[in-house]
Amino acid sequence: MADQAVLQINGKTLELPLIVGTEKEVGIDIAVLRDKTGAVTFDPGYGNSGACESAVTFLDGELGILRYRGIPIEQLAGHASFLEVSWLLLKGELPTAAELAQFDAAEKSHRDLPDFAVQLIKSLPRNVHPMAGLAAVFATLSSVEGPTKDLEAGLAANELRLLAQIPTIAAYLYRHTEGLDFVAPDKNKAYAANYLNMMFKGTKFETNDADIANALDLLFILHADHEQNCSTSTVRLVGSAQAGLSASIAAGVTALWGPLHGGANQAVIEMLDEVVAHGGDVNWAVAQAKDKNSTFRLMGFGHRVYKNFDPRATIIKVQADLVLSRLGKNDKQLALAKGLEEAALHDEYFIARKLYPNVDFYSGIIYRALGFPPGMFTVLFAIGRLPGWMAHWNEHNAGKAKIGRPRQIYIGKNARDFVALNKR
Ligand code: ACO
Repeated sequence: MADQAVLQINGKTLELPLIVGTEKEVGIDIAVLRDKTGAVTFDPGYGNSGACESAVTFLDGELGILRYRGIPIEQLAGHASFLEVSWLLLKGELPTAAELAQFDAAEKSHRDLPDFAVQLIKSLPRNVHPMAGLAAVFATLSSVEGPTKDLEAGLAANELRLLAQIPTIAAYLYRHTEGLDFVAPDKNKAYAANYLNMMFKGTKFETNDADIANALDLLFILHADHEQNCSTSTVRLVGSAQAGLSASIAAGVTALWGPLHGGANQAVIEMLDEVVAHGGDVNWAVAQAKDKNSTFRLMGFGHRVYKNFDPRATIIKVQADLVLSRLGKNDKQLALAKGLEEAALHDEYFIARKLYPNVDFYSGIIYRALGFPPGMFTVLFAIGRLPGWMAHWNEHNAGKAKIGRPRQIYIGKNARDFVALNKR
């Protein structure tokens, strides 16, 4: 392959170097474009723009490949714990047994929230969306952030604390909105089991089932990173202004909240309810999703990058069957979702546009069966995504990256004179 691209513009010829990644992805380095030609590239939605070089996650949307630090998601999902995967993302290598033991002990010791964070949660309106509460708590945790270089148990101390505390924040937010007393972290329980305990102890969803906790741990792994998605790019962009870690994560949380991103898992359940209201007719839903005059979309379907299948969705579909049978639930929504998937996958509209179930299509069904209300689904996504956000924040700050600042093509009015108030 040529080692440069040639661009002709306004009679000028510009040779632009190519950047080739370790998986042979090719980028055209346009850093000199504006200086040399006065032009910028135009790529709304950034579908063709690489914003950075990154060594964290590789994904190939055509082949349905997802690898964290080179290791396929299918191998991690079967064999590693979420804490191991967090270490892998943050440090670049799997932890040794000794490193993992030290990390595990340190994580357990940092689960309690500072008192001001507990008071903040208690002060929020009962009907607060937990994603709003999560962003607020992360923003205020910046006030107790230590120097970026401080280490504990081999990790950045700031990262360790956020990883340890996000389940506590999430559980307290849930119990606050439900009017339930908070359940303190249990330092004898593993990460996901402790989170389930803080969420549901004393409620009808209380569980000590290790298989259920393991399934939740696996869901966290599947969500742990996904390279330059909307929320991760947000975290990097905010971090590029040298905002602190917690403040950058708070911005990532609000980006994730949107229904076209992490909010889709909640939207899937709402959509399935709507289909139920239409007699469970999956063909009605498919017709609505295809109708360009309707705002209805098949939530949990389609992906900016995956144009073949989403490997996470394949794993989650199996988990949905396992968890529901473990809970002894015959979930009508699971059957409905499978019927909807079947109908869409055989429909020309979805085939032509390469629209397949994404990570959110089945995750909400599992969460609901476990007792999580829809408003908490995206919070679960955020717990899983936290190590990925932090790995990217780190990577960005470790390099010599400039502040993120896109250009635009201005299409507003040309220069014109101010008109005094009495003349308008
Ligand atoms: N239902 C119906 N039609 C769809 C859907 C859908 N879920 N997704 C895409 N399309 C159609 C579009 O209408 C468009 O059709 P057209 O070419 O006739 O205009 C075509 O497919 C391309 O869609 P775009 O919106 O241009 O694709 P884009 O890459 O911008 O969007 C997105 C990707 C946002 C994920 C989109 O597929 C979508 O809205 N899906 C539903 C929401 C969802 O599940 N989001 C979660 C994504 S995964 C994640 O963030 C964790």
